[in-house]
Amino acid sequence: MVNTAVNLCGVELENPVIPASGAFGYGREFAEIYDINCLGAFAIKGTTAYPRFGNPTPRIADAPGGMLNSVGLQNPGVEDVVNVELPALAKVYSKKVLANVCGFSIGEYVSVAERLDAEDIVGWIELNVSCPNVHGGGMSFGACCEGAAAVTREVKRVTKKPVIVKLTPNVTDIVPIARACADAGADGLSLINTVLAMRIDPAARRPVLANVTGGLSGGAVFPIALRMVYQVYEAVDIPIVGMGGVSTARDVIEMMLAGATAVGVGAANLTNPFAAKEIIEALPAEMEKYGITNLVDIIGGAHNG
Ligand code: SIN
Repeated sequence: MVNTAVNLCGVELENPVIPASGAFGYGREFAEIYDINCLGAFAIKGTTAYPRFGNPTPRIADAPGGMLNSVGLQNPGVEDVVNVELPALAKVYSKKVLANVCGFSIGEYVSVAERLDAEDIVGWIELNVSCPNVHGGGMSFGACCEGAAAVTREVKRVTKKPVIVKLTPNVTDIVPIARACADAGADGLSLINTVLAMRIDPAARRPVLANVTGGLSGGAVFPIALRMVYQVYEAVDIPIVGMGGVSTARDVIEMMLAGATAVGVGAANLTNPFAAKEIIEALPAEMEKYGITNLVDIIGGAHNG
């Protein structure tokens, strides 16, 4: 009998598997096809103060080993999330969500986080300072230490729940940014968001995506994400949610050995809507295969000394 339980910033999870923001909507569609209470938790779609239609189409493109998206933070706005999405979710889901909070100013991050912090179903605030698909928000805060720290510090002032800062891989060195967030009071970090990328249509001689660039996710980015989780684990003492191309129980174990306390599953949900459930079901056998009794015991296990 193996134990898959982990503790993420003071909240107990039955298992570490967390569908990542943007790949699971607000949970409703997935709840129609399986009981999503099997999840450790999940992260809701990035939420802004006001509704957003997102970027023009095409905003999805195929890529070797993954996909590109340039959705542009389409979401119904925080009031709709609080009044419609979260109450609907609470009817079918009894666990906690990570509320992914986005903004175009520090004030917007603060107001959205404060509003979501008051909701029972919200277990953590996930501060999205890493969306590569918008101009003037998202990644523009998270690509430098000062911006990431400023958002973290101000949001911490208005929230009681743990604040997990979602980092971008689109920087020369993710480690100083991770440290800056930890020093500014972050309770945890999630990484990585998507990798800035593009495709070109040779016939049209134009970028495939209307936004020109988009974020690459899927199996192709797994080794990059794993490397960054490994590096960040050595630099900070706060829990990490490792994500980026995770699609198997073995990937979960690798992420935890690199230093993740919990593991996000993103693009895999889009090609197989049962992906997260199947990973959870496969986890005990995978643990037995590697002689793991308690999953928490392997966190950071790939580091020497
Ligand atoms: C998007 O809505 O463009 C993706 C969200 C993200 O990358 O954080």
